[in-house]
Amino acid sequence: MSSDSAPLAGRVALVTGGSRGLGRAVATRLAADGAAVAVNYRRDSGAADEVVAGIAAEGGTAVAYQASVDDEAAVAAMVRRIGEDLGPVDLLVSNAGTASRGTAVADTDEQEYLRLLRVHTLGPLALIRALLPGLRAAERGDVIVVSSAIVETTPAGGAAYTMAKAAMEAAARTLAFEERRHGIRVNVVAPGLVATDMGERLVAASGAPTIADLDARYPFGRVARPEDVAGVVAFLASADADYLTAQRIRVDGGGPGIPIVAAGPA
Ligand SMILES: NC(=O)c1ccc[n+]([C@@H]2O[C@H](COP(=O)([O-])OP(=O)(O)OC[C@H]3O[C@@H](n4cnc5c(N)ncnc54)[C@H](OP(=O)(O)O)[C@@H]3O)[C@@H](O)[C@H]2O)c1
Repeated sequence: MSSDSAPLAGRVALVTGGSRGLGRAVATRLAADGAAVAVNYRRDSGAADEVVAGIAAEGGTAVAYQASVDDEAAVAAMVRRIGEDLGPVDLLVSNAGTASRGTAVADTDEQEYLRLLRVHTLGPLALIRALLPGLRAAERGDVIVVSSAIVETTPAGGAAYTMAKAAMEAAARTLAFEERRHGIRVNVVAPGLVATDMGERLVAASGAPTIADLDARYPFGRVARPEDVAGVVAFLASADADYLTAQRIRVDGGGPGIPIVAAGPA
């Protein structure tokens, strides 16, 4: 799979939250396209090992790394270990994320805002700072941020999550202009509802039975699958997207889908 002619041959990718859901599909796809992939996870080492084994079985290269993205020291240690094992990262997919508690602004305290900001914004920015020397030195560097289409719809109960995603989008756009002279591309992918553990939890919280029950009500007859997002990430990292930076691509079938969010955000 990782022959010299593969589109991402020679590149070293880090996918945060690469053990499950969207990140798993992205890690698998980037490895299939020839990148060596660092699969970051927080708790579920079994899931991360499964992703690594699946990539190896297809002839690709992947290694799992534990670090919570909101722990700056752990992130710095992870970046060092990836450098030793695979070489400097030249492609970051900042994907790790968690949902908010779904409370209204009237009932959301500062701790909840800070918890979400640490995972979706401040942690990823510390990771980017740690990776920038390697990204700048690379022939081409990419930062691809997984945000959410929710930034446009701002549903009730989602302020902490939506604000954190919006803040990261603003930082990513700024970074794109700052780092263009170093050959770094920074782009945002903003999915609508996706069929993952997080997606299933969200749907359950809104009172709908399962994502499968919602398929017929979504564009193209189905809720997005993780592979739909992974394909867009692979495109953004490819030579075909060489002249793209500071872009935001919504992956929601042209949405909006049905407004299922009653109690919590995607
Ligand atoms: N699913 C949707 O409908 C949807 C829609 C729009 C945007 N998104 C965004 O897409 C991204 C991926 O979501 P998903 O649906 O794939 O979620 P998921 O199924 O819950 O998977 C989350 C992944 O992120 C990891 N993770 C969570 N917190 C972490 C932390 N602090 N540090 C490192 N890794 C962490 C998890 O690792 P462990 O298992 O080890 O904890 C897991 O690999 C998130 O940023 C999410 O906000 C999702």
